[in-house]
Amino acid sequence: MGGAHDLLPLSADNTCGLWTRTIGGLVPMKDRRKRVVLIPWNVFFWCTLAIVFLSGFTFSTLRLVFTGGFHPKLVSSWRNPAMEITSGESPPTPAISVRASVVFPDQALIFLKYPPSTLLLTKDDISCVYSFPNSSHAEQKLPPVAIDDEYPDHQIVRCSLQPRGSLVAASSKSTGYLPVGRSHRWNWLAYEAVIDRDNTTVVFVKGLNLRSGRVSNSSRFDCVYGWDLSKPKFLLTSDVVSIAQEIVRCKTPLSILNSPERGVNNTMKVSVRVVRRGILPSVARPEHRLEPAPSTRRHHEMCICTMLRNQARFLREWVMYHSRIGVQRWFIYDNNSDDNIDSVVESLVNGKFNVSRHVWPWIKTQEAGFAHCALRARDSCEWVGFIDVDEFIHLPTGLSMHDVLSNRSRPGNVAELRMSCYNFGPSGLKRVPVKGVTVGYTCRLIARERHKSVVRPEALNSTLINVVHHFHLRDDFAYENVDRNVLVINHYKYQVWEVFKEKFYRRVATYVSDWQEEKNVGSKDRAPGLGTRAAEPGDWSSRFCEVTDTSLRDRVLRTFTNPNTGMLPWQDQPDEQ
Ligand SMILES: *[C@@H]1O[C@H](CO)[C@@H](O)[C@H](O)[C@H]1NC(C)=O
Ligand SMILES: *[C@@H]1O[C@H](CO)[C@@H](O)[C@H](O)[C@H]1NC(C)=O
Ligand SMILES: *[C@@H]1O[C@H](CO)[C@@H](O)[C@H](O)[C@H]1NC(C)=O
Ligand SMILES: *[C@@H]1O[C@H](CO)[C@@H](O)[C@H](O)[C@H]1NC(C)=O
Ligand SMILES: *[C@@H]1O[C@H](CO)[C@@H](O)[C@H](O)[C@H]1NC(C)=O
Ligand SMILES: *[C@@H]1O[C@H](CO)[C@@H](O)[C@H](O)[C@H]1NC(C)=O
Ligand SMILES: *[C@@H]1O[C@H](CO)[C@@H](O)[C@H](O)[C@H]1NC(C)=O
Ligand SMILES: *[C@@H]1O[C@H](CO)[C@@H](O)[C@H](O)[C@H]1NC(C)=O
Repeated sequence: MGGAHDLLPLSADNTCGLWTRTIGGLVPMKDRRKRVVLIPWNVFFWCTLAIVFLSGFTFSTLRLVFTGGFHPKLVSSWRNPAMEITSGESPPTPAISVRASVVFPDQALIFLKYPPSTLLLTKDDISCVYSFPNSSHAEQKLPPVAIDDEYPDHQIVRCSLQPRGSLVAASSKSTGYLPVGRSHRWNWLAYEAVIDRDNTTVVFVKGLNLRSGRVSNSSRFDCVYGWDLSKPKFLLTSDVVSIAQEIVRCKTPLSILNSPERGVNNTMKVSVRVVRRGILPSVARPEHRLEPAPSTRRHHEMCICTMLRNQARFLREWVMYHSRIGVQRWFIYDNNSDDNIDSVVESLVNGKFNVSRHVWPWIKTQEAGFAHCALRARDSCEWVGFIDVDEFIHLPTGLSMHDVLSNRSRPGNVAELRMSCYNFGPSGLKRVPVKGVTVGYTCRLIARERHKSVVRPEALNSTLINVVHHFHLRDDFAYENVDRNVLVINHYKYQVWEVFKEKFYRRVATYVSDWQEEKNVGSKDRAPGLGTRAAEPGDWSSRFCEVTDTSLRDRVLRTFTNPNTGMLPWQDQPDEQ
């Protein structure tokens, strides 16, 4: 292994740090805000073990004091500004500050918080600052990998973890140094939260290791709300309504729903407390983020949720094509792209396609991301498809999605359409096809593989359980396997080497353990026969080719070709012959 996995900043806001504060004098506490020093995992392990041991006692003590949900008295103390100053880490004068940081295998995320009506910094303004406490090297500043801003008051700066393990600050000319402080480990964290329309809070968490596809017993968990999770006295607790996989649904205390501070400062956090393990560190804010139901016009009949990374160059064809078959709205969950996705999305929006990009830096959270998107889309979309940008919904008989969906919406209880996928190979090509993937790739494997779904978000079980693209529906709804002649997915899975290799490297770089572990050799996400090496096999272009299938190509050429120029709308250069 090696790399960032092995090391953890001493200042990490792990259970150790948390309980160090909570239980006061039992474990010596240091001011660890300024510097990031690296300690090996084994030290961290013993430290955690000690804390887990101690916390059994502490936790039950706290429970005695704070049993049964929240305490009305606490609410008023929240409104007391004096307390808020002591409970926050930020200086009293409003300034840009670091709200939190989270360490991933290859990047660190720094969450900046902005005071109201401050101009956001740009990628050119800001740099990641590395220090080398052990050597004579001077400090080093490097530009961030990317900067994301979905909301006006905060921003995510993504810094590479090279040079290794010593990221200490973000800095800019106007702000000076913004020390990163304690970093959260990605594998033990509450990372997103949404207040649902029934006023429950849906919290997305990492690290609980609950069973897949099942509802878990909620008796060991509750939710906590507050500004500083290390101060249990100032937290509100609430009951868990349901817990499954990595999603916890809680009652939201009334005072949180009505709290003006929550809206104004946007710094309140929500997290989950686990009996004997303590409170998960959190960067999740309890917020309303759902798309409102359109008040005048009717719902979109069909929307798509997708998750991608560095696939902007496929977006135009994918959006324009699906628009023609009846998709009206696209939610793009971007898991850390550093290509030109912003400008591609902007050009699509200018072309009147309702596309939006949502920052979703969380790795290995596809199920959670889809659940988040389904929640967000529920009030504006009647049906939502969950597909990747290299997957195209094809209707071989020439119907539109409207033809298919309107038939299903009426009888009532069909709420999920399952489509099977055809996997296309490089089809003899050596270079990226200029007319796009639907026209370029025409040879595929015979066998159909996996299913992808179009679901009615209204019919989803409130646990939001989903496993490999299938959601659990409410008990009174059913799914239907749609005939492949009506609806099928063309999955351009093995494209020309130049494209495929990016997918390959990305996995090797980011998900080393997944990719290289022997037990995953048979995984369907791997390319058969490639092992862990990214060298082009001599016969790559003729692989995965068992049967010619030009059905979608013919339809695309027929519907989209501009009679004057011979070009397709997503093409930006004429064919070269
Ligand atoms: C720091 O220096 C000590 C002694 O030279 C060495 O053992 C240690 O590995 C160094 N640590 C790092 C992080 O380079
Ligand atoms: C949600 O909370 C708001 C504010 O307290 C309240 O006005 C509304 O009626 C609640 N909605 C539901 C469905 O409980
Ligand atoms: C959940 O766990 C608690 C404590 O172990 C137990 O008393 C309760 O019966 C369980 N509930 C369910 C629904 O299994
Ligand atoms: C909200 O921000 C204002 C000004 O920055 C500050 O005075 C106040 O204490 C903050 N409130 C909370 C709840 O953090
Ligand atoms: C896009 O769709 C959302 C609902 O999902 C709607 O609120 C918004 O107005 C639409 N935007 C445009 C430009 O039509
Ligand atoms: C990020 O996006 C890629 C490309 O679609 C996907 O394969 C990968 O699973 C995603 N990662 C996570 C954590 O969802
Ligand atoms: C829709 O339903 C009508 C009447 O039941 C049927 O004739 C038609 O073939 C159906 N269309 C599709 C796309 O299933
Ligand atoms: C949601 O799923 C759970 C577990 O599968 C089930 O017990 C419950 O009845 C479902 N809820 C609804 C409303 O169908």
